[in-house]
Amino acid sequence: MCLVIRSPQELQTWRRSQGPQSIGFVPTMGALHEGHQSLLQISRQQNDLSILSIFVNPTQFNDKRDLEKYPVTWESDLKMAEKNNVDVLFAPTFEMMYPDQYQYKISESDLSKELCGHDRPGHFDGVLTVVMRLFQLVQPDRAYFGEKDFQQLALIQGMAKAFFLNCEIIPVPTVREADGLAMSSRNSRLSVTEREKAPRIYNILKNSRSSSEAQQQLEEQGWSVDYVHDRLIGSSKRRFVAVRVGEVRLIDNVEL
Ligand code: PAF
Repeated sequence: MCLVIRSPQELQTWRRSQGPQSIGFVPTMGALHEGHQSLLQISRQQNDLSILSIFVNPTQFNDKRDLEKYPVTWESDLKMAEKNNVDVLFAPTFEMMYPDQYQYKISESDLSKELCGHDRPGHFDGVLTVVMRLFQLVQPDRAYFGEKDFQQLALIQGMAKAFFLNCEIIPVPTVREADGLAMSSRNSRLSVTEREKAPRIYNILKNSRSSSEAQQQLEEQGWSVDYVHDRLIGSSKRRFVAVRVGEVRLIDNVEL
């Protein structure tokens, strides 16, 4: 049975009572899919105990409408947590996570301003701040992040290093639908025709000879392209994309 904890204080009490057992942590915003499931499975294999958090973090949404439309699927999320032997599901409220009303934040000054950070001002401040707060409460030995959000993963790795966090950040490969579309909670907001066309994002990324060729091919689909850039992050050279399929902003990346 998965224990559902709502308050930070209760989570800290639970954490202190666990002694030397290793803790794996999967932070999410819910609307769980097979991509999240792969994070939970690896956490289960590598640790004595697994904690999942579900918190739709308002500080990382620069667009209020995007926050309002973020899918919430509590019942099926709980089933997935139980199926994957999650020990604790932490689901706090905004007031619990931000008793300071977000007066204190973590801010990175370089990579967080590019790619998604360029189009979504303040997004990564919100991500880093909530992840740091969650880490303080959970005190995980390992935390798991998908490579679909590669920029987020790199920034969290950088933060863990910069602040000497005692937590290993484990990257997990992107999980794709059979047709190649990267799994994302936002996919559920696509219309039937948008969903049929969306796998072209991955095909174009994979098969284009340059970022400008990819951009042109994406635009030919009738989509508005926020960016396509080739970037070296750490030791990995990748092609990154953010594209608006109707009202839904999707991101993906491939190793070059
Ligand atoms: O990737 C996500 O779901 C979120 O950005 C995260 C890491 C849970 C922080 O809110």
